[in-house]
Amino acid sequence: MNPASTAAGSVQPLPERPGQTVSAGDSGCPYLVVRDPDVVRDILHRPTDFSPANALVAVTPLAGPALRVLQRVHFALPPVLASNDTDTHSGIRKVVAGFFTPATVAAMEPRIRELAQEAARNAADQLDATGQVDLVQAVAAFPPAVVMLELLGLPVRDLTDLKRWGLDSMELFWGWPGEDRQLDLAHSAADFYVWLRHLVAESRNAPGRNLFKSLAEHGLSTPEICSLGYFLLIAGQETTTQLISTTLFRLLDGTGPVGWKDAASEAGSRTMVRDVLATESSVPTWRRVAAHDTNAGGIPIPAGAEILLELSGNQVTAPAEPENLPIPAQAARRGQSTGYGLVFGSGIHRCLGAKLAELEAAVIVQEVAMAVPEAHLQEYQPDWIRLLSFQAPRTVTVANSPRDRAHPS
Ligand code: HEM
Repeated sequence: MNPASTAAGSVQPLPERPGQTVSAGDSGCPYLVVRDPDVVRDILHRPTDFSPANALVAVTPLAGPALRVLQRVHFALPPVLASNDTDTHSGIRKVVAGFFTPATVAAMEPRIRELAQEAARNAADQLDATGQVDLVQAVAAFPPAVVMLELLGLPVRDLTDLKRWGLDSMELFWGWPGEDRQLDLAHSAADFYVWLRHLVAESRNAPGRNLFKSLAEHGLSTPEICSLGYFLLIAGQETTTQLISTTLFRLLDGTGPVGWKDAASEAGSRTMVRDVLATESSVPTWRRVAAHDTNAGGIPIPAGAEILLELSGNQVTAPAEPENLPIPAQAARRGQSTGYGLVFGSGIHRCLGAKLAELEAAVIVQEVAMAVPEAHLQEYQPDWIRLLSFQAPRTVTVANSPRDRAHPS
């Protein structure tokens, strides 16, 4: 990818137009925003009319210094999977899907539970020892990364770097960083890319089965494998971390349909994960671009129009918030659910990790709710990750009781 040629411009407030299915960016928003679930689904099922080519495009134009940092390491994201609108997509998808079959994911449940119990125990120990614990770092951050690497046959290492690189790259490509911030983020993305290229080289000759070796056998070049790895090593774990973070936060702030005690049951945790997916998923929006002059929801759409599809939540009916919020802050508001059916996309690019993400989230939430039954939220207004297509609280800090909350040690 040449990030310079792919920028979509900055995002302005969404026009508030209840009932409208497709809203043009007449307030400076560079996207046609589609909220009606039927129209969203229709667009996702017409990949020749609505291409995913802009899926990984930088939302904010990258300035020269950041671009040079990326170019120095030959950073490139050629279309391979999520942004691939050619007929090579289905073969590549099949190779990746082979690592996430329903049987493989189901067989992983005991390992997920083992990791969840270990993390939950550590959280409980930290809570006892210090009087408080951030559940994002203690339980949400690492188990999804370990599970993903194990499923892909890749070495489980450098997890702290991986988590930081993932968040930085999300902000670089889906956020609104100024020039100085872009430079920091570009250095991080470049480090990630170099690490990835070494891992790809190592994996090609490693014993046993791993994703990168399988992709090389399928005929993909090293830049293509790196491109897929760059997307998957972020999408395959940070989105789940964010889903878990929001689920824990809503359980503890008491605004969900399930209470903390009920989340300790399998049914309770599953219900709550589904509710968060439907109302404020970690991936609330996704993009498409019109491949030629076409139409959707009864309105004409010109070739090249960038489209933002709402997958989760309903901002129109959300409670009052300042009108000048950018899209991600609006998307973070808890409105009426638009339903669960679109949260993992739909059609030929539908998420390959949907079952895994839900399973991981439900198991981890359940184990934490069991391990720290007296936990109370300490910070009701934490800082949130708010990007065009990703959202979650950065921290979910709890204390053991309202008394500890008032007097944290
Ligand atoms: C809560 C967690 C997750 C959410 C909300 C989510 C959501 C999404 C969405 C909205 C898409 C775009 C679908 C489309 O264009 O129609 C997608 C694509 C994808 N996701 Fe996920 N995802 C999550 C977790 C995961 C995990 C855990 C993995 C793998 C381990 C994964 C792998 C993928 C892949 C490979 C694609 C691209 C598929 C293709 O283009 O053919 N995702 N995801």
